[in-house]
Amino acid sequence: MTTPKAPARLGTPMSDTAVRVMLLGSGELGKEVAIELQRLGCEVIAVDRYANAPAQQVATRAHVIAMTDAAALRALVEQERPHLIVPEIEAIATDELVRIEAEGLATVIPTARAAQLTMNREGIRRLAAEELGLHTSSYAFASTEDELAKAAAEVTGFPCFVKPVMSSSGKGQSYVEHPDQIADAWRYALEGGRVEQPRVIVEGRIDFDFEITQLTVRNLVRGEVVTSFCDPIGHRQVKGDYVESWQPQGMSPPALKKAREISRAVTEALGGLGIFGVELFVKGNDVWFSEVSPRPHDTGLVTLVSQQMSEFKLHARAILGLPVDARLKEPGASAVIYGGMDAKGIAFEGVAEALSVPGADLRLFGKPESYERRRMGVAVAVGPNVDAARERAKDAAAKVKPVRG
Ligand SMILES: Nc1ncnc2c1ncn2[C@@H]1O[C@H](COP(=O)(O)OP(=O)(O)OP(=O)(O)O)[C@@H](O)[C@H]1O
Ligand SMILES: [Mg+2]
Repeated sequence: MTTPKAPARLGTPMSDTAVRVMLLGSGELGKEVAIELQRLGCEVIAVDRYANAPAQQVATRAHVIAMTDAAALRALVEQERPHLIVPEIEAIATDELVRIEAEGLATVIPTARAAQLTMNREGIRRLAAEELGLHTSSYAFASTEDELAKAAAEVTGFPCFVKPVMSSSGKGQSYVEHPDQIADAWRYALEGGRVEQPRVIVEGRIDFDFEITQLTVRNLVRGEVVTSFCDPIGHRQVKGDYVESWQPQGMSPPALKKAREISRAVTEALGGLGIFGVELFVKGNDVWFSEVSPRPHDTGLVTLVSQQMSEFKLHARAILGLPVDARLKEPGASAVIYGGMDAKGIAFEGVAEALSVPGADLRLFGKPESYERRRMGVAVAVGPNVDAARERAKDAAAKVKPVRG
């Protein structure tokens, strides 16, 4: 594999020397990346499918397009001429990114192929399990309800998980305990999937002790790619969406070693520069690969306070070809703040009380519209140990009260 490219030098925004970075997706994770890039004088172009998305509020310029529309994406890239394209979400016309990269129009982070493989559960699962031989749950793919029923009966058994191959944040995902529930799971997957042609993965349930995100950074040191590992992040998921995370998650030395071997293998196969969130299941000394984000991970919001450099700073540094420090600073935790209502332009009460919790800090994302289960902010906290940090983060999150404007 060729050595990835990074800008040779940094410049001045809105001038001929500017390093232009286009974010495809401008949510709360992109917002933090944009801030880190702005601090180094990059010109940040924030793109999303709706106006005033979080990262657009801190970017040099903003555009609203359907990022799944290949022609619209190409037109915008030709107009803005970014040096780097940084996908922040999965739902992008990644085939067009492959062409853009092949023509040398821009560098896609970490690579266009990585964006393409990871937007589809089939692409990344086949790479991990069949090409790299990594330990995963049993799995099969299905394009009809009958195929699904057969796959569940013959390959995974029950309980199992059924997921659209193209979906994220638990959308269209079911936990199936009995063959009678297959029809409902199929129907639910069709509603939650992103594409016309239905296709699902069915996975055998891993009865794990805990699950982690192994943040893994690939950056350049004297022209060579070096891989660094953050401390493992533990997290709790409800309906496929993370509600709290903490760092470090304690692990046995053999499990930690396996987690890092898996993370190294999968990130090397995807290539490029930047941070990756490798999702793993752990039971005793056993570790299973689940999936990987070739970008900052939502559970990694905790690193805003727990690490020397947050995952966002690590990403910005790595993609610009700069040095990184992936070390933990102190134990930390994050707890999600949900909208709790469907409304536009909501306000937040209790912020002073939340910030009075020792060691706590907040991010309010500034999303123009709130939904009941939309992530509108996060509380992060440090503490003398992970348990204390978790209590503080949850306490601070609970004190923030979204209210109608
Ligand atoms: N095979 C499995 N065995 C046990 N638990 C699972 C399995 N698959 C998924 N889960 C649980 O469901 C959660 C969400 O699954 P997964 O990460 O595949 O979905 P997702 O929609 O990509 O979520 P996100 O986008 O938030 O990462 C996992 O973090 C885990 O808690
Ligand atoms: Mg996941």
